[in-house]
Amino acid sequence: MKKGEKILFGIIGLLVFITVVNFTVLETVSHNSDKPLFPILTHFDFSADGLRGYGIYQQSNCYTCHHAVGSGTSMGVVLDGLGSKHDVNYFYNFLKAPEQTYGAKTVDHGAPPKDAAYVSALPDSDLRALAVFLSELKSDQGSSSSFEPPKGESSFINAMLDMWTPEGWRSKFRDIRDWMKSNSKEEQHDGKH
Ligand code: HEC
Repeated sequence: MKKGEKILFGIIGLLVFITVVNFTVLETVSHNSDKPLFPILTHFDFSADGLRGYGIYQQSNCYTCHHAVGSGTSMGVVLDGLGSKHDVNYFYNFLKAPEQTYGAKTVDHGAPPKDAAYVSALPDSDLRALAVFLSELKSDQGSSSSFEPPKGESSFINAMLDMWTPEGWRSKFRDIRDWMKSNSKEEQHDGKH
């Protein structure tokens, strides 16, 4: 081996070693700790139809691309919390006619030969149950799938706003945090009467 090759393979070997050690440590810590590594900001409370949809979800191999209810992969969209963004009808329409409903070109859902083309061919009653299941995957305030930012003041969000928003956006749009503050004041006010 030439000197350059030795250095190159040495660096690659070191990176692989560091990755394996990091992975092992992270997995060991997360398995032995009662607390989750990250706070879980999504929840679900399935109705009978939703539970049936969950069964169909598991049988239909959706989790080879999706992540929901604590398992699956992240090749496609994470489905946890999505029920706070869309309703049952949206999900049914998306599963049945992906591209029209998505409003953009899709990668996997849609007509054959796309990999998830089989989804829109599932029996209608299965699609309806799946839609109920999806609509019951709710997100909590502050989750990445929620419209509502985390509770309390966040210097991080303020810094991001200063950095990325165009001049004068406040005259055109309303900061959702102000809207939430005024809403909760109204609620407290109502509560006194
Ligand atoms: C081959 C991978 C794959 C499989 C299998 C798959 N999906 Fe998807 N899914 C995706 C991708 C990728 C997207 C993003 C849209 C697109 O490009 O197709 C997506 C998007 C979605 C969305 C989001 C729609 C939105 O507007 O945000 C839902 C809901 C969904 N899939 C449900 C399902 C269900 C239910 C199944 C099983 C019956 C399933 N998917 C199977 C890859 C897959």
